[in-house]
Amino acid sequence: MEKENEIQRNAPHALLSPPEILNSLGKIFEDADHLLNGSKDLNELDSQLRFLAGKKGKLTEILHNIHSFTPEEKKIIGSESNEIKKKIEGIYKNKKNELINASHNEYLLNRNRIDLTIPGVYIERLHTHPITAVLEEAADFFSSMGFEIVEGPEIETAYYNFDALNIPPNHPARDVWDTFYLLNGLVPRTHTSSVQIRTMEKKSPPLRVIAPGRCYRYEAVDATHLFMFNQMEGLFVDKNVRLTDLKGILEETVKYLLGAKKTRFRPAFYPFVEPGLDLDIECSFCGGKGCGICKNTGWIEVIPCGMVHPDVFKYVKIDSSKYRGFAFGMGFDRIVMLKYNINDLRLLYQGNLDVLSQF
Ligand code: DAH
Repeated sequence: MEKENEIQRNAPHALLSPPEILNSLGKIFEDADHLLNGSKDLNELDSQLRFLAGKKGKLTEILHNIHSFTPEEKKIIGSESNEIKKKIEGIYKNKKNELINASHNEYLLNRNRIDLTIPGVYIERLHTHPITAVLEEAADFFSSMGFEIVEGPEIETAYYNFDALNIPPNHPARDVWDTFYLLNGLVPRTHTSSVQIRTMEKKSPPLRVIAPGRCYRYEAVDATHLFMFNQMEGLFVDKNVRLTDLKGILEETVKYLLGAKKTRFRPAFYPFVEPGLDLDIECSFCGGKGCGICKNTGWIEVIPCGMVHPDVFKYVKIDSSKYRGFAFGMGFDRIVMLKYNINDLRLLYQGNLDVLSQF
């Protein structure tokens, strides 16, 4: 069929008389209306236009013997054929716009199509990280006792991290916290105790604050030690603060966060407190018998603490004959470890959902 059309299209045209030509021009216009408007896409439309009015198209073909006509006849036929050509181009343009709009609309339609039969994607709802969850619990507990939550920078000056905490440059105690230094001399804080100094510089007593945050140390990593970890510092300064306040509040804290656990205080040395203590909790992994996690002691040290050293008060210009205070630096990751019986701190930081979704 295609072939036949092709042969007919290319058939040599008989010589036509002027009236026949005018007649044919009318027919071409009718064909054009029909062929162009019937085109299904832009390719077909273009090829129909070429067939009708192109260089080798029908229009040219029927005019091929026009030179043999009188000038009068040429004029009439010429103007008629120009007229028809213009009309054909007009039809072509309209149809082209119509096809372009249609294909654009179809594109938009497909793009916005929603298949309501496709099953939905299940989005699993998780929960806060165990460290964040326990942190919020602890924050609630301390807020209920009038403690305010404060923060300090993770990158500290040696002054706030050491000097003002009564750890002068050449003091051997500095070795305990010796750490990475940045090239500009600043230090990723080794503990949140630096926030004690920053707070006491800004606020005058009475004051009660907790300061949770990340700390960094030059540490050989194992199940209970990380080079990056969370601490929660606490500071209570007032006229009549005593060691018994410290003991009472910290024992209550352990009870609140971990339930009834066996605790003990033992003396310890920290240059910024006097006396200094460590609050230990009975190891929940061995029930106090001794195991790898508690280094066979039966106890896990979680809250180092003590009464604020008068020399620290001197640095922040608080009169130590009027005010006294206690401070503590809770090893926060260890609290979480004991609360959830996690036997390796590293598990908390690996972002492993198999582990985290258990809590
Ligand atoms: N900053 C100490 C450390 O990281 C812990 C500490 C001990 C904090 C005694 C205190 C404190 O506030 O009173 O090892």
